[in-house]
Parts: sequence; structure tokens; C-alpha cells
Amino acid sequence: MIYYFSGTGNSYAAAKKLAAGLGEDLMDIAVAVQEGNYEHTLTAGERLGFVFPVYAWAPPKAVTEFVKNLELYYSGDPYIFAVCTCGSSAGRTMDLFEKALEENGLVLDSGFSLVMPDNCITLFEVDSDEEVAEKFETAEKTLNHIIRAIKLGWSDFFRVKRGKFSGVLTKVVNPLFAMGAMKTKPFYVTDDCISCGLCEKICTSGCIELTAGRPVWTADTCNMCLACINRCPAKAIQYGKKTAKRGRYVHPIYQTKENGEMTE
Ligand SMILES: Cc1cc2nc3c(=O)[nH]c(=O)nc-3n(C[C@H](O)[C@H](O)[C@H](O)COP(=O)(O)O)c2cc1C
Ligand code: SF4
Ligand code: SF4
Repeated sequence: MIYYFSGTGNSYAAAKKLAAGLGEDLMDIAVAVQEGNYEHTLTAGERLGFVFPVYAWAPPKAVTEFVKNLELYYSGDPYIFAVCTCGSSAGRTMDLFEKALEENGLVLDSGFSLVMPDNCITLFEVDSDEEVAEKFETAEKTLNHIIRAIKLGWSDFFRVKRGKFSGVLTKVVNPLFAMGAMKTKPFYVTDDCISCGLCEKICTSGCIELTAGRPVWTADTCNMCLACINRCPAKAIQYGKKTAKRGRYVHPIYQTKENGEMTE
């Protein structure tokens, strides 16, 4: 079983390729959380994998909470791996993820980072088309290596691009991010909204409701997956003052039609 969490499709696309290469099933963590579905029984030889994005040099809180609460039934010693997707560097993300697993009595055998296009448009401009193409090409090769390592059952094997100052970024900057930057208040919708309902459907926190055809954020904080703002087909969602001038990023696997209908 491969559990994944994804706002704009990078982690989903990686999880899908891993699932196909390893012959495992896929489960969306956001859906599992919303349905209260924390149970899984591993069959003989079944591996357990997790694929998720890096948020401020740490795993998304939704992912660590899920892992801590996962009710796993198994016999023997299941192989457990994790892949974190990031725009440039993961910091100590994998260390924190490993710790969350350990709190649930589980041991991580291997961990990898996968550099993919950056979706954090609340802070940065999107990558150029050339950067996106380069990242996809390298990621494809990296994923093939990851599949090989997992098939060989490599244990205590970690290939994570931590980047510079990883300890400070994860231990000092991330807690500040968790306190301040996950607020929904700066979100707003413009008259470009076509009332397609996609934002309500895809919100990983389940905190967007359409009222009179327009999204309303019903919680003060959210996962900050940036699915709503990046995937809105009318570019009608903004966050604060800077996103109006920035591009949007969606992995091709999550592209939608002009009316907001999902293709995947
Ligand atoms: C709130 C937020 C924080 C992020 N922080 C980081 C970071 O610390 N390091 C990094 O390299 N990328 C960072 N990113 C970029 C994402 O990790 C990257 O684009 C990821 O592949 C997105 O995955 P998804 O498409 O499955 O949602 C961040 C993105 C968001 C939305
Ligand atoms: S996804 Fe965009 S266009 Fe569709 S309802 Fe939400 S804000 Fe409106
Ligand atoms: S409100 Fe937007 S950014 Fe926040 S969890 Fe929902 S889709 Fe993600």
C-alpha cells in the first residue's frame, strides 16, 4: 500500500509511478483522514510506502498525524519506505517523518527526496517551463532508481537532498511557519470565479464550501497545500497581495478542463 498526500499532483504522480512499478495499491491520505479510515492490514510481502510534499523543510502535519494514528495490522517485518517531493531541498523532513513512524512502533527502511516543480506561489514565482521540464526529466530517472532500491529491499538506505542549514530550517523556521503561515484569512476569490466547485472538491483540509457559487474558507487554518489557488481553472483565487502577478503550477496529472472538470 502506498499512502500519498498531494496538493498540486507532484506527489500523486510520483506515488502512481511507484505503485505501478512495485505492484502496490494507492490511498489518498486526505481522503482517508476525512473518512476516518486509519486501518490497514498488510498482506504477506506487501510493502508500506508514503509519498508527500515538503512544507517548510518538514512533512505536512496532516501526514505526520496520519502516520501516528495509522492502525496497521501485519505479521513479520514489513518493508517501509518514504518519498518526499520538494521544489529544491527537504531539510530534515525525513528525520521528522521517521520519528512520527517510530511513535507508532514502525521502522523506516528507506527514504528519498524527489525534486519537482515548486508550487509555493504564496512565496515565490513558479519555475520556468525549462526548469519544469528539467525537473521532470531528472525525477523520472530518480524514481526508476527508487523503485530498484525498494525492489531490492535495501534497508537503512536514505537519499535525501537536505540542502544547506537543514537543521536550522527544520527546527527553527518550520515551527514559525506552522504558527504563522497556515492561515486561511488571506485567501479571497475574485469575480473571475465560474462557480465550478473544483476548489471545494479538492481541498485537502475539507475547509472550502461554496456559498452562492463562491468559495468560503470555513476554518482559520488549513494544510496550506495550495491546491485551491493553483488548480482553480479561472485563476480566481488569490492569497494576500502578491499572487495576482504570479503564475500557477499544476502537475499535468491533475490538469482540469476549462469548466473545472477533473481529468484524473
Ligand atoms: C506551504 C509550502 C511549503 C513548501 N516548502 C518547501 C520547502 O521547504 N522546500 C522545498 O524544496 N519545497 C517546498 N515547497 C514546494 C513543494 O514541496 C513541492 O512543490 C511539492 O512537490 C508539491 O507537491 P504536490 O504537488 O504533491 O502538492 C513548499 C510548498 C508549499 C505549498
Ligand atoms: S475553483 Fe475557482 S472557479 Fe471554481 S469555484 Fe473555486 S474559485 Fe470558483
Ligand atoms: S484551503 Fe486551499 S490551501 Fe488550504 S488546504 Fe484547502 S485547498 Fe489546500
